[in-house]
Amino acid sequence: RFQTVPDLQPYGDLASLHAAIQDCVKCPLGKTRTKFVFGAGDVHAKLMFVGEGPGRDEDLQGLPFVGRAGQLLTKIIEAIGMKREDVYIANIVKCRPPNNRPPEPEEVRECWPHLSAQINLIKPKVLCALGSSAARNLLGLETPISALRGKFHYVDGIPVMPTYHPAFLLRNPNMKKPCWEDLKKVIAALKKPAASE
Ligand code: URA
Repeated sequence: RFQTVPDLQPYGDLASLHAAIQDCVKCPLGKTRTKFVFGAGDVHAKLMFVGEGPGRDEDLQGLPFVGRAGQLLTKIIEAIGMKREDVYIANIVKCRPPNNRPPEPEEVRECWPHLSAQINLIKPKVLCALGSSAARNLLGLETPISALRGKFHYVDGIPVMPTYHPAFLLRNPNMKKPCWEDLKKVIAALKKPAASE
């Protein structure tokens, strides 16, 4: 699923990929966005988080997870002993869906090569899918997040841990505990030496 798309092959690093796609208008979201939200963090991150798509604050600032849900994500990252700068954070779609609706399948299809190319360049050891949109689209499944979370799913050899979206946790604080259980598995996987190491 994370095949590099031939069109994006010439972009050997994230900065040139960003420059190449930041004016994208391949789907309707490109016409209504304020800013393109490429993603942010360590280009060599071992851990990469993937959310659904930019919200209002992200659309205004051009950065992922900077609103209320983003502040909770920062706390989650700190709770696992890391900093935001140590990880990479991106979204399934790079432009804000109006009124924060979930992205349409057609929008996800057009944007997928961008995320796929990012994952190929970063080569994270572990991916963490935040919420249903991210989990379903990364895994290519329609299963509810409640059934996907808590276990690793392997995509092109990369372990993907789906967990609840921080915006959902803000509305359902009792779900923070299961999210923490999921993240403990992420920490363990990050510590485990790879087979070839
Ligand atoms: N929610 C997301 O899924 N992504 C963001 O970047 C912000 C909020």
